[in-house]
Amino acid sequence: MSKELVQIFDTTLRDGEQVPGCKLDAPQKLEIAARLDELGVDVIEAGFPVSSPGDFKAVAQVAALVKNATVCGLTRSVQKDIEVAADALKAAKRPRIHTGIGTSDSHIKYKFNATREQIIERAVSAVSYAKTFVEDVEFYAEDAGRTDNEYLARVCEAVIKAGATVLNIPDTTGYCLPAEYGAKIKYLKENVKGIEKAILSCHCHNDLGLATANSIEGVINGARQIECTINGIGERAGNTSLEEVVMVLRQHPHLNLDSRVNSRLLYSTSQMVSQHMGMIVQPNKAIVGANAFAHSSGIHQDGVIKNRETYEIIDPADVGVNASSIILTARSGRAALAYRAKLVGYELTKTQLDIVYEQFLMFADRKKEILDDDLHEIVKLSPIDR
Ligand code: KIV
Ligand code: ZN
Repeated sequence: MSKELVQIFDTTLRDGEQVPGCKLDAPQKLEIAARLDELGVDVIEAGFPVSSPGDFKAVAQVAALVKNATVCGLTRSVQKDIEVAADALKAAKRPRIHTGIGTSDSHIKYKFNATREQIIERAVSAVSYAKTFVEDVEFYAEDAGRTDNEYLARVCEAVIKAGATVLNIPDTTGYCLPAEYGAKIKYLKENVKGIEKAILSCHCHNDLGLATANSIEGVINGARQIECTINGIGERAGNTSLEEVVMVLRQHPHLNLDSRVNSRLLYSTSQMVSQHMGMIVQPNKAIVGANAFAHSSGIHQDGVIKNRETYEIIDPADVGVNASSIILTARSGRAALAYRAKLVGYELTKTQLDIVYEQFLMFADRKKEILDDDLHEIVKLSPIDR
């Protein structure tokens, strides 16, 4: 059975760029946009055009540059925002306006001092107005994660009638549990009239470390777009990480879901974004962290040397990492030492290995990690005939 495709909506240049202290200049944004297009994402959210002249220009330049992906600009449910976004997206081959409004009781009361009915009216008029500029209009129900499902369904129904092509259901505060978020998507699938005319989209934040799990629950329950960022960067604890959701779908074929992303470009894209943003990738970050394919305990090293699959569920080459690494520390065993010694040119017999291992342990107790230069020194100091 052929797999259903989940659209990957990358918002590194919009939600991702909302990381405190991280600002991308225009050439950096263009370089990242070109890379995202090459990576195979379906949608690039290039910015929030009304927010500043710089953002407007960046969105316009990305729109003109990108060849394959849809290029999207964010707006509030405000006419001026929509006009400016439409203008910024003029050169895009596939333009999308992403408009919306807060729908949770707390947003309605504190942000808008409005009623639920007034919010629906504003949502509908924003979508209708955006439709006068572009065919592809995505609507976001901000704080949908804390919006009650019955009201959310009414909002969705109204904006579909007004022409929304995609319904973004953001867990803006990263509050939902996976089962709860999945149930929300299922509820909308089953209770919104006209839902077959629109794609449901997951937009999850990571405040409780659940963004990836929630997005995956979302697509299991019928959503067909995931909004995410490279390295999971974004406001506060960040957004859903693109590399994680892409690889979850790829590593679990029984879900019958996949994306168009070329996973072999994931590691280099992660590095590019990290460098441009001046934000290091935490070493234990799934998929793209420096330790994601590094093994340091003797038991694991022995297993991986015998067969990589004993302790790795992903072939590093599939995400653009050269090879698994065997890190030599005081917890490494003879198998790891023999393996690394061979890589730097020493084919040791069993007797030689026992002797070199004694020397290795003395070094390893003094150093956090034994590097290739140390290995040469260790072999030189070991009393073996060579
Ligand atoms: O998290 C959120 O609700 C958002 C919307 C503006 C789409 O980023
Ligand atoms: Zn967001």
